[in-house]
Amino acid sequence: MLEDRTQTTEVSFDEIRRQRESMNLVHSIVEARYDHTPLALVHTFGCQGNVADSERLKGQLAAMGFDFTDDVQQADLVLYNTCAVREHAHDRVFGNVGALKPVKAANRDLIIALCGCMMQQEHVWQKIKKSYPFVNLVFGTHAVHRLPEMMYRVLSTGKRVFETENSAGTIAEGLPVRRDGSFKGWLPIMYGCNNFCSYCIVPYVRGRERSRRSEAVLNEARELIASGCKEITLLGQNVNSYGKGSDDMNFASLLRAVNALPGNFKIRFMTSHPKDCTPELLDAMAECEKVCHHLHLPFQSGSDRVLKAMNRGYTRAKYLSLVDYARRVMPDISLTSDVIVGFPGETYEEFCDTLSLIETVGFTSLFTFIYSPRVGTKAAELPDPISREEKGRWFKELTDRQEQIAAVRCQTMLGTVQTVLCEECENGRVSGRTDGNVMIDFDGDESLIGTYVKVRITQARNWILSGELVR
Ligand code: SAH
Ligand code: SF4
Ligand code: F3S
Repeated sequence: MLEDRTQTTEVSFDEIRRQRESMNLVHSIVEARYDHTPLALVHTFGCQGNVADSERLKGQLAAMGFDFTDDVQQADLVLYNTCAVREHAHDRVFGNVGALKPVKAANRDLIIALCGCMMQQEHVWQKIKKSYPFVNLVFGTHAVHRLPEMMYRVLSTGKRVFETENSAGTIAEGLPVRRDGSFKGWLPIMYGCNNFCSYCIVPYVRGRERSRRSEAVLNEARELIASGCKEITLLGQNVNSYGKGSDDMNFASLLRAVNALPGNFKIRFMTSHPKDCTPELLDAMAECEKVCHHLHLPFQSGSDRVLKAMNRGYTRAKYLSLVDYARRVMPDISLTSDVIVGFPGETYEEFCDTLSLIETVGFTSLFTFIYSPRVGTKAAELPDPISREEKGRWFKELTDRQEQIAAVRCQTMLGTVQTVLCEECENGRVSGRTDGNVMIDFDGDESLIGTYVKVRITQARNWILSGELVR
């Protein structure tokens, strides 16, 4: 029921008001402490969910009197928002935190803060507590909206603050947001994940799946549109299960409702989970003129045995039938996906099922990962006899094959005219993305940034296109 969900998951108005009071207190402390506007360096690792969180952290910092910098030497506060999804992400964070030690030695007043998914893992924050004494503040994903109160404690006591309790998770509405981009906007519609894919750490560090009220989502979409945003990406670990367990809208209805908002903008969404992807949703995509015909639908493996061991909840046949349906209702649809190579116990024959699946579907692009064991997940307990080198060879086979597939797909776009959102301009070349999320560049100038233009494709290089403006 909506009422129950609101009561149990939405942060109360009183709590948000308490944080606003802390913001004012921090603002006064900051004014007295610094002879300049203090600068924060906020660096985000990981997925768009983290990017969206960082935009809220920056909104709160701005309200507390901070401005922003990319230069660590200039910073009064360094905040790293971390990702735990693979070993590589984890190692990068520790590398970056270690590099802050001499910076802190040279500037004793520097406040160092770590947050995000890694800080929700006990073995990580324990290690920071013990071995990284120069870190002042550590908080997990469930404490994002409590930054003002935590900053107040750090500034007023000078003591280290750790806020890393586990929680099923809440939804905090009404936080200030400082957005990274002016014409592309991230819009979280739900948080957490209930799927417990056996390899994945996300459900452990992000709590249970919970959806924002549709009215809150639509209000934020209206704000984005009014501020000139041209592309709204609806975010969630599994947007297809938006609204589950409530009497609010489901994802297909939400998509239609955002599409119905007046304005010149397009809609993207991610990530879709095949187990909850329905013909109803694909129909809504096809019928909503503002929704880009791009579907990021991670399949992870082409083998039914591996999919089962991954606890993905669908079969290869079900995945392929969704692709067929999507292509039937949107013949121009661009499909992208995530794949894991070398899941524990995967055989070369099973890996070949993944190769044949990418051949069958013909993805525009793939995000490919070698399996990385995560502490506390089921898959990390499984025997994993294949060597890293062998997995590396499979990985190369997959990416080589995908490169050929993408090149062929790009060739078929030659001569077509695509709608492109212009994102950057360098040396008279503008770059942007097509509706299908393919990168493209063409001659143009700065004035085009943030606008939609028509571009005829004249050249296709692997997965990047070149073209010319159609006036
Ligand atoms: N919620 C999204 C994915 C979020 S994580 C979904 O279910 O599709 C992004 C991608 O990282 C996943 O799709 C998966 O391909 C990859 N990934 C997650 N955990 C991983 C692990 N332990 N090892 C390797 N890749 C992993
Ligand atoms: Fe991880 Fe699976 Fe949830 Fe995606 S759906 S975040 S892969 S557990
Ligand atoms: Fe990483 Fe957390 Fe996103 S683990 S992928 S930042 S949800």
